[in-house]
Order: sequence, then C-alpha cells, then structure tokens
Amino acid sequence: MKFWLGIALVLLAFAQSRATIFQRTFKRLHEEPPLPSNQNRADIVETLWIEQKLDHFDEAETRTWQMRYMLNDAVYQSGGPLFIYLGGEWEISSGRITGGHMYDMAKEHNGLLAYTEHRYYGQSKPLPDLSNENIKYLTVNQSLADLAHFITSIKATHEGLSESKVIIVGGSYSATMVTWFKKTYPDLVAGGWASSAPLFAKVNFVEYKEITGQSIELMGGSACYKRIENGIAEMEDMFATKRGGEVKALLKLCEPFDVSSDLDIWTLFSEISDIFAGVVQTHNAGQIEGVCQQIMAGSSDLIGVASYLLDEFAESGGKCYDLSYDGITGVLLDTNYNGNIMRQWIFQTCNEYGWYQTSGSADQPFGTKFPVTYYTTMCADLYGSKYSNEFITNQVSTTNAYYGGLSPGVENVYLTHGQLDPWRAMGIQDADQATILPEYAHCKDFNSISSSDSAEMKASKERIAELVREWVK
Ligand SMILES: *[C@@H]1O[C@H](CO)[C@@H](O)[C@H](O)[C@H]1NC(C)=O
Repeated sequence: MKFWLGIALVLLAFAQSRATIFQRTFKRLHEEPPLPSNQNRADIVETLWIEQKLDHFDEAETRTWQMRYMLNDAVYQSGGPLFIYLGGEWEISSGRITGGHMYDMAKEHNGLLAYTEHRYYGQSKPLPDLSNENIKYLTVNQSLADLAHFITSIKATHEGLSESKVIIVGGSYSATMVTWFKKTYPDLVAGGWASSAPLFAKVNFVEYKEITGQSIELMGGSACYKRIENGIAEMEDMFATKRGGEVKALLKLCEPFDVSSDLDIWTLFSEISDIFAGVVQTHNAGQIEGVCQQIMAGSSDLIGVASYLLDEFAESGGKCYDLSYDGITGVLLDTNYNGNIMRQWIFQTCNEYGWYQTSGSADQPFGTKFPVTYYTTMCADLYGSKYSNEFITNQVSTTNAYYGGLSPGVENVYLTHGQLDPWRAMGIQDADQATILPEYAHCKDFNSISSSDSAEMKASKERIAELVREWVK
C-alpha cells in the first residue's frame, strides 16, 4: 500500500514538473535576462531578507512580509558605491551579481553588488497565495517603494555605505522600473542603466508582432517570413471552411479543443505567434536562422510550419497537446505560487500596462486570430469582471499620465535596446536619447566587454562605464 502510494506520488511529481506548452512559451518570453557568461565563481553571494510593508501607501494596513535579496561584497571596500540589479517578473539568482558588465563597473569603483527580488516573484511572497484579494498589492509603485525602503535601510545599516552613491540596473520590465524609480525617487540614486525598457503602456500593442516579423525577415530571409505567413494563413483558412478538424489532427491538439470556439482558436494562434516571438526575443547568433532552416525544409508552407511547431510542442511531453482556452485559464486560475509567474505578470498587464501582443496589424506574418478581445476577456475571467476592456484602457492611461510614457522626464538614465527586440517599440527609440544595438535581441548587453561584441555593443558598454564614473564622483 505504502509502496504504491510512493509510486503514485513520484508519478504525480513528475507530471507536475513538466511545464505545459503555455508555461514554457511564457517563461521563454519572461525569463530572467541571460546571466553573464564569465563568472567569478569563488565569490560568496549572501541571501538575505528585509522586512517590507504590504502596503506602503495605507497607514491603516500594518501587515509586513520578507523580501529576498542577494549581496556580493567580493570587490567592495568601505565607502564604495552600491550597484543594485533590480529583479523583475522572475526569480533572482546569484550568477547575476558574480560577473558581467555591472560587476566589472563595481570592481572598478570597489562597489557593493546587490540583487533585489520583486514582490510576488521567486521567494518574495507578501501573502500566502495569489487569490484576487491577495494579488492586489502587486503594483509597480508598491515595488518601487520596496526598493526605496531597501536602499534607505541598507545605507543606514551596512558598513561604510552611508554616504555611498547608488547605481541601479535592470533589463526588460526591471529596466522600466529603473527609469520610473529614478523619476519617483530622484535623490535615492545617482544614475541608472535600463536595457530594453518598455515605457509606454498600451493595450493593443500591435507593433510587437510587426517587429517579430521584421526580425525574422532580416535574419532568416523573406522566404522564411513568407512561409510562416502562408502556413498560418492556410490554417486560419481551414478553420474558416469547416476543416478545423484537419488542423486539430495535424497539430495533435487534445480534447477539449473545440474547432468552432473563438476562444480556443484565439488561444491556439496566440500561442503559435508567441513561440515565434520567443525565438526572436531571445535570439543569439544563428538562432532565428536555424528555425528558418527547419521551416524551409518542410515539403510545403503548411507542413514546414506545422513540423516546427510540433517539435516545440513535444518539448512539453504528452501524446497530444492541450492548447484550449480552458487549458490556459486552468494554469492561470491556480492561486498557488507553484513556481508559476504567469498569473502574476498577466495581472500586472491587466491592472497597469496592457501590452497585449495582438494580431491587430496586417504587417506581420502571424495571421488575424489573436485580437485584443482575447486578452481582455482573459483578464476578466482570471481576476474578476471589474477588468473590462474599458477599465484596462483607463488603467493604462493612468499609468502613462503618471510615469510620462515616452517622455518620462528623467535624468541620468542610460537607455539601450536591441534592434531585433520586439519590445523596443514601447521604449524610446530616438537616437539622441537611447542606444539601439544592431542585430541584438532583448537584454543582450549585460556581459563583460569582449571580443565577440559588435563595435556598437562595445561602444555602448564603454559609454555606460563612462557615465557611471561621472555619477559616482
Ligand atoms: C500608483 O500608480 C498609479 C499609476 O498607475 C497612480 O495613479 C497612483 O496615484 C500611484 N499611487 C501612489 C500612492 O503613488
């Protein structure tokens, strides 16, 4: 009896450890920016906790929680500056502060290195679960206030730090936080480096899939772009002409996928486009080209695209693949932490940013079947009927009014973007205010300066090092 229970538990644990297709695709698009490849492995990183208020803006709310952070003092000398990498929608890890360009700058100035974890991610859990009632304290200004308290308190308590200059660094959403933190608490930090920061909140973020397509065309060729466009159009056509069952069989979609349900069709095509987005956003030399080669090897547009997708789906295991709306909302309605970040991040989008990477533009190859309604319907289904299209639109306007969108009016923040990165459309693209790195993707500039850097990459890293020299004076 005990033996069989043991086997059953092992099997259950195994089934749970395999992430669903939704989780894998999402994770790729929201992973921690790549860790620096050169690591000072002998450095000792301490993991520490700081008490934070649950609500920094309501005096009557007295509950507190423990926020995790990491410190590396290997290159620190008393009185040196503090370099903080800000955690975003991911779990923090020590390799972030034991190497890379930020580390090299800290070393030059004998700085202390820190990495803070964002509330509701990783081990930083303000409340025991992610119910609608409990998730409402997940807002960017609460997390910026966490950071303000962290800086004030570590400066007051850590040896030699009381007069130190503070430099903050972040990638993706945490780069947005760098910019907004400098704007909100200008006196707490001397300067910041924001790599790939979306700054403009927008519900219908049509540009994302446009740039995804452009990057595929640029790196993988226009035949590949065309093939993806035609293959997806053919599948859409099949659904439109009562041949949805054929698509279902071709892509091995499990029950309960309903070929006549808009929500299921939207889920499928949104997921397909996100699989391609994952390739582009995380591109390293050869990655897009490799996927295009595989797609071009198929005997037709449809077969080329489908066989690539089937390989991707297979990574999640199983004999057939659940890409139904109930499949995705099942994952997202789970209010346990479970190492899952989707429920938290999607809440942030429904409540503050939008950023739905829809099929709303004709200038992209992924078809027409993931409209903004798909995403806003999901907001209401997941977090309550209050999250209507109108509510989300208003929240997004409030975010832009408050933080300034593409005119944040902030000083001493160095902005960088990868040319291939679809997120850059929500960031500042003006060459006077931001550096665009040709042929690089999302958050690809955190490594140490090296001989494999392009001339533009090397120059950009030298530029931020020069700025930091001025800021820490
Ligand atoms: C938090 O941010 C929103 C913008 O989304 C703003 O309207 C609101 O006033 C902020 N709250 C506080 C207490 O700063």
